[in-house]
Amino acid sequence: MLLTNWKNLAAALCLLAGLLAVITPAPALAFDTAADDELLLLVNGIHRIDRAYQPDDLVDTAKKAPSKKSRMLLREPAAAAYTDMIAAYQAENKRPLYSLSAFRTYAYQSRLFSGKVASRQRAGQNYLTAYRNTLQYTALPGTSEHQTGLAIDMTTNGALSDSFRDTTQGKWLLENCWDFGFILRYDEAKTDLTAIAYEPWHYRYVGLPHSLIIRDNDWVLEEYIAALQEQGMLEYADPQDTGSVWRIYWTDDTAQEFADVQSVSSDNTGGYIITTKVSLIDSLLNEWSLAALTADSLLVMPV
Ligand code: DAL
Ligand code: ZN
Repeated sequence: MLLTNWKNLAAALCLLAGLLAVITPAPALAFDTAADDELLLLVNGIHRIDRAYQPDDLVDTAKKAPSKKSRMLLREPAAAAYTDMIAAYQAENKRPLYSLSAFRTYAYQSRLFSGKVASRQRAGQNYLTAYRNTLQYTALPGTSEHQTGLAIDMTTNGALSDSFRDTTQGKWLLENCWDFGFILRYDEAKTDLTAIAYEPWHYRYVGLPHSLIIRDNDWVLEEYIAALQEQGMLEYADPQDTGSVWRIYWTDDTAQEFADVQSVSSDNTGGYIITTKVSLIDSLLNEWSLAALTADSLLVMPV
């Protein structure tokens, strides 16, 4: 009788050890700032980037997708997503869609800005009016996200105009860009937040699941980062993947610990966005095991 009780207890302990081995949560570790992929940089008139900033993974997309220029550089993850997006567009549509402008150096942006001001002056505007009008559509050097290699302008015919929104190409992009990790960066209804006029041609790569979260909340990038800063964490359940949930954190404490980290990006406001993906099974088992471990009943669990 005594022996049977000892056997039962030993079996219960083995079962408990096995269970704990299976459901032990991924260890939380301080995130690796050296793994910063810089895909979620917020660049605008307030949050500038350095004159010398230049990504080291630029890829030419001009040979892989129709372009109005001989070279069209994007950062590698953005370039891969862009060529996938254009292939998907072409599979559904015949009308041509071209890239017009992607990565720009600080120096190029500077020349572009001065050139636009000069051209408005030639058209009769005084300097101040020409400067102010240019600011609405062309970012000052150091404030353009084209310098990140994550932004791209697209066109049907070589021109950039509001009518792009009414074209087959513009409509398709607005509906589908999110699935490829891109966002419409300068929304017509959010010009007070972006300080840039509506640009239906300008798309920005932020990656998944961020583009889907931004779409579902009808945010611009400024609002997404503000929401992360205010709430500390946002959760996103991907309908395509019901087995796990994304948890996106914002922190300015590089010693803070996270588990299940998928990627890390600085945000150019002084913080980091930590993208984690948690298996729902793990999450549920962890909650259950914590509850069970605190229950006295576990000690007399029948075997
Ligand atoms: N057109 C956008 C605002 C840029 O120049 O970066
Ligand atoms: Zn642009």
